[in-house]
Amino acid sequence: MSARSEARADMAMSGDGHCPMLEYRGLTVSYGELLAVKDVSFSVERGEILCIIGPNGAGKSTLLRMTSGLLKPSGGQIWLEGRRIDTMPAYQIAALGSTQVFQDIQLFSNMSVLDNVMTGAHVWTDGGLVGTGLRLSRAVSEERRIRHVAVDQLAKVGLSGVLHEFPSELSWGEQKLVGLARALLCKPTLLLLDEPYGGLDTEEIERLSALLRMLRSRGMTILMVEHLTDVVMDIADRVVVLHYGEKIAEGTPAAIRENEQVISTYLGD
Ligand SMILES: Nc1ncnc2c1ncn2[C@@H]1O[C@H](COP(=O)(O)OP(=O)(O)O)[C@@H](O)[C@H]1O
Ligand SMILES: [Mg+2]
Repeated sequence: MSARSEARADMAMSGDGHCPMLEYRGLTVSYGELLAVKDVSFSVERGEILCIIGPNGAGKSTLLRMTSGLLKPSGGQIWLEGRRIDTMPAYQIAALGSTQVFQDIQLFSNMSVLDNVMTGAHVWTDGGLVGTGLRLSRAVSEERRIRHVAVDQLAKVGLSGVLHEFPSELSWGEQKLVGLARALLCKPTLLLLDEPYGGLDTEEIERLSALLRMLRSRGMTILMVEHLTDVVMDIADRVVVLHYGEKIAEGTPAAIRENEQVISTYLGD
């Protein structure tokens, strides 16, 4: 049994039989004196794109980091498909199918675009090692298979032309798409994106939106932090608004646009 299916084997349903993809229950975290996330509760349903918006410092990235297990909450709980994950280490949460793309992407500068994307496969391969470990793997046929999937994934994000270039030779927008392609190689069921549109040009924005819509149509759940409100209103099924660590609104893009508190504290700026 793979790590992922093993980790899912003892899934528990909530009392009413409804089991959201992801659920935050009274989530709270502080950095020393600073309360960065305060008693936040909401759910993300399977197959939706939910966007978290809010001004700088609202606690959006902190919330994503907790979801990936990179930071532990000081209060509250996080549930992924009926399993409590805030007590789990990050690798175990990843094995459940959650993959995060960070704001600063963190590509390996000494590896080609293709090799960078191939490292994403470490979640589901037995070779199990990131980076150069893949090259040392005895499983040559496995590596060939991963290479094939990576090439295919890079084609889907429109980067077939730069497979053998290094990250420093790409535009920032292209590097972000490489980071996304690498994340998709993890075969996530839940994709966490921190400001994926930041620094993209108009064409790259459209390419990314088309890709995210395609992933949603295939059943992937996407939780995204983004401050480009036009893009959010266009692509989100639902929006959660954070302000100084508190959830001040939640609803469809249309409802959020008309929410008085959101307009006065955020959108009105
Ligand atoms: N590692 C950290 N140590 C101390 N304070 C932090 C740290 N990371 C974030 N913060 C603070 O926590 C608050 C929320 O930050 P963050 O989650 O990055 O907000 P956002 O992503 O919404 O801009 C901010 O006030 C920020 O300065
Ligand atoms: Mg942030």
